[in-house]
Amino acid sequence: MKLISGNANRPLAEAIATYLNQPLTKCLVRRFADMEIFVEIQENVRGEDVFIIQPTSFPTNDHLMELLIIVDAARRASARRITAVVPYFGYARQDRKPGPRTPITAKLVANMIERAGADRVLTIDLHAGQIQGFFDIPVDNLYAAPVMVQDLKRHYDLENVMVVSPDVGGVVRARALAKRIGAQLAIVDKRRERPGESEVMNIIGDVHGRACILVDDIVDSGGTLCNAAEALLEQGAQEVSAYITHGVLSGGAVARIAASPLKELVITDSIQPTEAVRVASNLRVISVAELLGEAVRRTAEERSVSSLFY
Ligand code: R5P
Repeated sequence: MKLISGNANRPLAEAIATYLNQPLTKCLVRRFADMEIFVEIQENVRGEDVFIIQPTSFPTNDHLMELLIIVDAARRASARRITAVVPYFGYARQDRKPGPRTPITAKLVANMIERAGADRVLTIDLHAGQIQGFFDIPVDNLYAAPVMVQDLKRHYDLENVMVVSPDVGGVVRARALAKRIGAQLAIVDKRRERPGESEVMNIIGDVHGRACILVDDIVDSGGTLCNAAEALLEQGAQEVSAYITHGVLSGGAVARIAASPLKELVITDSIQPTEAVRVASNLRVISVAELLGEAVRRTAEERSVSSLFY
């Protein structure tokens, strides 16, 4: 087995390597003067089972190109099998046509990864499970939920917890987490009654006096999250926290979350946390390195990965 990291999240790749007791393969990923990417795998990978660890997070286009170019280099170096380990799969939110003449980037990126030469993909909490079907190669879509549940058990009194989906689209994900901890489920239903009017937040479920845990796959601008937290507190929730897999946290999101009434936001290290995230008082990062490391080990040993899904 060979583990190769791009530049998107080296600390996560190193943590996976430590878990597997296996060094990262030396791989040079650098830029020409015009910012074209150059890759040189500096060890022999002929006939090897190669895992390339690279979330396609900000700057998404650069990290995606790095991934494709490393896959290409590994394929041309005669790797036996190439697994693209993409903890955060960028471009996934454009997974259908919301209107005429719009793209489906999740499918486009799937095509690109496959065409570059990947034989398998390993990822966590895909924005929509059906994106697996956009590939014609095996895709293991792990869930961060088991890691979140462990952390929830350590930090919260589960008797008083209510799991909340911040929008109708996230109900399946939130319900699955609620089931794991035996908690009830509430839903924030955003509605725009008439075009041009602002959205009204309706809470489905009685959150009064409860410690609410918002669950989502992505926090980007933080808008969905902070609005939901305010609506829950208005409805009498005792406190509101959130567990979200991918901390995209664009623009002023960290400041927005720091200024919000959220008790804390827990994200994973699927995307490398910035310095702003590390110093924010109500943001905490839990690691998916062991989960990914175990999935890598089982893939390499041709053992079942599905038990890690549950
Ligand atoms: C949307 O479908 C996703 O699950 C997230 O709710 C969304 O991407 C969050 O975005 P933001 O933080 O910008 O509101």
